[in-house]
Amino acid sequence: MATVGVECLVLGVFEEAELSGEARSVDAACAGRLKALLERGDFAGRAGDTLLVGELPGIKASRVLLTGLGAKKSYHRRSWRKAWAAAAAALARTRIASCAVAIDRPEAKQLDDYYFGRAVAELTGAALYRVNDLKTGKKAPAPALARVLAGPVRTAAAAERGLAHGAAVAAAAQVQRDLANLPANVCTPTFLAEQARALAKRSASLSVRLLDAAAMRREKMGCLLAVAQGSHQAPRFIVLEHRGRAKAQPPIVLVGKGVTFDSGGISLKDPPGMDEMKFDMSGAAAVIAALTFAASLRLPLHLVGLIGAVENMPGGRAVKPGDIATSASGQTVEILNTDAEGRLILCDALHYARRFHPEAVIDVATLTGACVIALGHHHSGVMGNDEPLVRELLEAGVRADDRCWQLPLTEEYAEALKSNFADFANVGGRDGGAITAATFLSKFTQGLKWAHLDVAGTAYQGGAQKGSTGRPTPLLADFLLQRAAR
Ligand code: BES
Ligand code: MN
Ligand code: ZN
Repeated sequence: MATVGVECLVLGVFEEAELSGEARSVDAACAGRLKALLERGDFAGRAGDTLLVGELPGIKASRVLLTGLGAKKSYHRRSWRKAWAAAAAALARTRIASCAVAIDRPEAKQLDDYYFGRAVAELTGAALYRVNDLKTGKKAPAPALARVLAGPVRTAAAAERGLAHGAAVAAAAQVQRDLANLPANVCTPTFLAEQARALAKRSASLSVRLLDAAAMRREKMGCLLAVAQGSHQAPRFIVLEHRGRAKAQPPIVLVGKGVTFDSGGISLKDPPGMDEMKFDMSGAAAVIAALTFAASLRLPLHLVGLIGAVENMPGGRAVKPGDIATSASGQTVEILNTDAEGRLILCDALHYARRFHPEAVIDVATLTGACVIALGHHHSGVMGNDEPLVRELLEAGVRADDRCWQLPLTEEYAEALKSNFADFANVGGRDGGAITAATFLSKFTQGLKWAHLDVAGTAYQGGAQKGSTGRPTPLLADFLLQRAAR
């Protein structure tokens, strides 16, 4: 590592100022300068801390960046990720354009060469991401970091593959974040549809079909249209298709909730935090991102993305509590709460998926506040009617470090959706709200292999760091890579 021709070497230091293995060998090459620095107490190795050191004798790189690994005895894959994320963020604040990541990895079982490359590239992409903001002042200069090498590896080919896949995941997550961060007055259903069209134009494997309100009426998408009718923004139903194989093959269908703004409709939401409902199209953005990903790596898969894009608004024409809509499946729904609009969009989109005779259907939605109460912001919720598919998603989430957690979806919960006037009500009370929402969707996915990701708590952050996180794009990307390899 001491002889690598990059501007900066990134090395790890354990808590209590202990040089990691890689750092020790670099220290030997520079006559113990690093050790001396630690002995002076300049850097303690706490997780998240970094220190930039310049011009060490005997080291080709002009700087070394030390990053804290935390306690040695609890060092694992996630501590490694945290250390590199902190280092990448520090590098993004400098003019350094190239670096080598030589942070000691936990045992290979936890992070092999391929996933090492993946994580290096994914986290670099996240660190370099800048919100496309509308501030009028002087902009900070864009980060310079352009070349990132993955430190010592056993099989260079595996690491290279990981770096390439990781860069594609990062680019896809950026697509999701850019779309989701846009304000709802810019990112309207029409805008989302045009983005999908532009994307399809740029890629040979992608094609797009857009349905306007009249076409949706022909498809009898009464639930989706019920949500749309209160808004002046015209709805769009987006069908994006990636054909990565010459031979026809049943597709994987991804379905995204694309509510470009969720005011709650007549069941109006409370003002605090209502601005965050511009993120209610995160599922749609993740589906667009997943198709971008598949196209960019030319994955040998047949993939279909379905997006119901609408704005949920109150108004003279808006759907009212108690109104009954007929879904495309023919089943009727009593809309007791107009704020439970996501499931009304998804039910018609899920029904549309049937015509593809799909191998699997996965919907992605910021569906319920109840899921945030249940799981907080670390895990997405996952439910479904096919255990192997749910397990696949759980495992993809672990590998991608974009985890989800399964909630039960058993028949008892259907009780809550009984209506006196229609086949179902669209809400089932506060208790188990994430599950009753999924139960509603399950009424439209019978006979399909289906799983549902509730990303209400994970797709974006509030507070000082407000913005899209790009989740669950890494999870979906990992799932697709596994499917492409099988
Ligand atoms: N988009 C919201 C869910 C949501 C809430 C996402 C908080 C992110 C953060 C969804 O449309 C909604 O309003 N759901 C209601 C359902 C209820 C009326 C049964 C909810 O969760 O309160
Ligand atoms: Mn809502
Ligand atoms: Zn919503």
